[in-house]
Amino acid sequence: MNNLKTACNIPFAKKIIEQNFKYHHPSLQKNLFGLEFKNPVGLGAGFDKNALYLRELEALGFGFVEIGTVTPKAQIGNDKPRLFRLPKDKALINRMGFNNDGVYTIRKRLEDRKVQSSKLKAQGFIIGGNIGKNKITANEDAWKDYEICFRELFNCVDYFVVNVSSPNTPGLRELQEKDSLRKILSHLQIINHSYSTQKPLLLKIAPDLTQSQLDDIIDLAFEVKLDGIVATNTTISRDNLLTETAAIEKMGAGGLSGKPLQKRSTEVLNYLVGNAGSKLPIIASGGIFTGADAKEKLDAGAALIQVWTGFIYEGPAIVKKINKFLVTGNAVN
Ligand SMILES: Cc1cc2nc3c(=O)[nH]c(=O)nc-3n(C[C@H](O)[C@H](O)[C@H](O)COP(=O)(O)O)c2cc1C
Repeated sequence: MNNLKTACNIPFAKKIIEQNFKYHHPSLQKNLFGLEFKNPVGLGAGFDKNALYLRELEALGFGFVEIGTVTPKAQIGNDKPRLFRLPKDKALINRMGFNNDGVYTIRKRLEDRKVQSSKLKAQGFIIGGNIGKNKITANEDAWKDYEICFRELFNCVDYFVVNVSSPNTPGLRELQEKDSLRKILSHLQIINHSYSTQKPLLLKIAPDLTQSQLDDIIDLAFEVKLDGIVATNTTISRDNLLTETAAIEKMGAGGLSGKPLQKRSTEVLNYLVGNAGSKLPIIASGGIFTGADAKEKLDAGAALIQVWTGFIYEGPAIVKKINKFLVTGNAVN
């Protein structure tokens, strides 16, 4: 990413990168939440946690990037090693623990970028703000952390995602329980409505929720008038992996992402679409590597898709390959 940054500082090099990686087609454009996405392929939260590489990611052709998870105070995250490759499974295990520069630094960075390149948004490059709570904040006070992040980033991002589904902040996933979630989301919606125009508010959920928990999420989504759901985050399951059990145990705790997550995340997507219909748009995340994977999610009713682990294994051409497949129906090498 740093090499890419250096290259993008040289105008003709940036142009060449864009020529190689961007793929435009009118049929890829999508209007959702009142926002114009130039294509449906986004980068999931946790890659550009600190909003350091937006220009570079835009040059690689992403339609949108979700920054964060951002917390009020800066955090160093868990001890290293905390990120592992499982090549046989085309998967990753991570327990990063919301390492980030904190919302005040990130807001400043986004404001500076806005001044430098006010054209970007006009071109349809959408930025989502994925927000969370600090590790030291008790769950009862979590709503305050979400409020701080929401207010600070309000003028710098195009949509918000409330993250209560990371397995790497102790107790965070308990906030997916209906009453805790209602408190956080209804509070954010009150703040949202205190502004003259509202920002789309989405919720990111774990793939490990039961059917009745998913029913609760759907009920609540309508009750607090959420704009959508990001489904799904990483899983704590270690089922059906090809990597040796001893090696997996040695890696330890964390969220599993990539190919082994694909099936379950599509199941969750199917359930949400089946029970909430088109009134609750879904951004699909989980195990998307190819155009066919993306099409599977879009055919199941996803409004947009996000890649993360696929970006690591397939490389920077993944966005172009997926978009080209969606337009032409042909796999590209
Ligand atoms: C190293 C790593 C860090 C991540 N950090 C975050 C995060 O901070 N916030 C979040 O909502 N999701 C985070 N995720 C989850 C991804 O955004 C994505 O939802 C998940 O990995 C499933 O997609 P994938 O199978 O394409 O990787 C992270 C994933 C990885 C691999």
